Amino acid sequence: MSRNLIAIRTLENDEINHLISLGADFKSRIRAGEAVPRLDRKVIGMLFFENSTRTRVSFEQAAFYLGMRSSNFSTSSSSMTKGETLKDTILTLRYERLDGLVMRHRASGAPVLAARHFGGPVLNAGDGQHEHPTQALADALTIIESKGKIEGLTVAIVGDVEHSRVARSNAWLLDKLGADVRLVGPKTLIPTRTARLPGTFYYDLEEGIDQADVIITLRLQKERMKEGMVSSAGEYASMYQVNSESLRFAKRDCIVMHPGPINRGIELDDYTADGSHSVIHHQIENGVFVRMAAIYHCFGGGEA
Ligand code: CP
Repeated sequence: MSRNLIAIRTLENDEINHLISLGADFKSRIRAGEAVPRLDRKVIGMLFFENSTRTRVSFEQAAFYLGMRSSNFSTSSSSMTKGETLKDTILTLRYERLDGLVMRHRASGAPVLAARHFGGPVLNAGDGQHEHPTQALADALTIIESKGKIEGLTVAIVGDVEHSRVARSNAWLLDKLGADVRLVGPKTLIPTRTARLPGTFYYDLEEGIDQADVIITLRLQKERMKEGMVSSAGEYASMYQVNSESLRFAKRDCIVMHPGPINRGIELDDYTADGSHSVIHHQIENGVFVRMAAIYHCFGGGEA
């Protein structure tokens, strides 16, 4: 049975745990040079309507490890530049017999539209300010590798929560799996309570990361901001940068994460981005394996 992966919010805990453990299993097999199940002769379309480095390349790697062929789709060289709609583009790919789609789009909900018209698995690689489910799965695997669990941990998600699909997917996942979730940032960059995000809101960095086990820092998304949301990047950094000074408020063994790309010197200083608390490289590597799990699961695979 084929499935879509659009959002963490609508997944059952069992499905989340299954995807994380499947990702961990793929990781140990690939590292050991062991065989993994293959989806030979399947073709997956990589539709990136917004730029990406980590997500696009790791989905391509994941498809390669599973024996699939990726068909890369670039908006700038497609017939969308001639006015073709998203719906007609998706239908074209369907009748060209692609087996699945990975899709990033600036509009929240675009992968839902794609799923409606494609008729096969669609995996959300980040849509607008909505969700980025595979990033949350990579982050969850990274936390479990570092801390052995998620339940009972205090996790502070710091920065531009308002514009962050990563923050939303992480908040849903971590709350479902029993973490104490804190959303930390200036009032202009924290969603209103009507967004119904799980977690407690903090507007002061030191309070928000006090005794935290995990700090997930977020990129300041200038491209999605209305004017005046932050007065300057420098002022933001002086109040909300996670650095050697502010880290003293978190637990001594806290881990620091960032989904990338990092604005160095704004969300994080170099000491923190590259130092002993950072697990950012593990997040990147785990992205490949949870995306293998996500593709395999969406194509109807059971246990690996
Ligand atoms: N974390 C993330 O989505 O990075 P990219 O935009 O490079 O894919």
